[in-house]
Amino acid sequence: MDNKFALMAALLLLVAPAHAKETAADNYRAYCEQCHGTQGNGTGVNVRDMSVVPRDHTDAREMSARSDETLFKVIKEGGMSISKSVLMPPWGGTLTDEEIHDMVQHLRMLCKCKFGGS
Ligand code: HEC
Repeated sequence: MDNKFALMAALLLLVAPAHAKETAADNYRAYCEQCHGTQGNGTGVNVRDMSVVPRDHTDAREMSARSDETLFKVIKEGGMSISKSVLMPPWGGTLTDEEIHDMVQHLRMLCKCKFGGS
């Protein structure tokens, strides 16, 4: 086997994931889990220091009370944009609109619910 080729293939494998489109699950792991928890149930490692508890994203009753537009807005512009806590940061500078749309779908998967009922 040509060593140069093997090396190139190995390098490509290392580099490729960094350029692949991040899925909502990846983004949730990277940006949301420390507060909202590995299971999305509002029990991240930051919680013990927080005065307002992060939303439990698996709570179908609470989550179905919010439209997809509201979820989009609070993720993009932060808690304050919908009169919630500033402890929920805005993500518009980190995630693209498309990624935020995907994230809303990811949250619907976590709560197994949709707006207006589950
Ligand atoms: C620094 C901690 C922190 C991080 C990181 C964080 N959140 Fe939050 N989030 C909160 C807190 C606190 C609340 C509750 C705000 C309130 O009830 O006033 C919240 C609430 C929410 C809500 C519900 C708002 C509502 O209608 O009740 C959504 C949706 C949400 N976060 C999504 C996300 C997503 C998606 C991410 C990752 C991109 C994320 N959050 C990252 C702290 C955080």
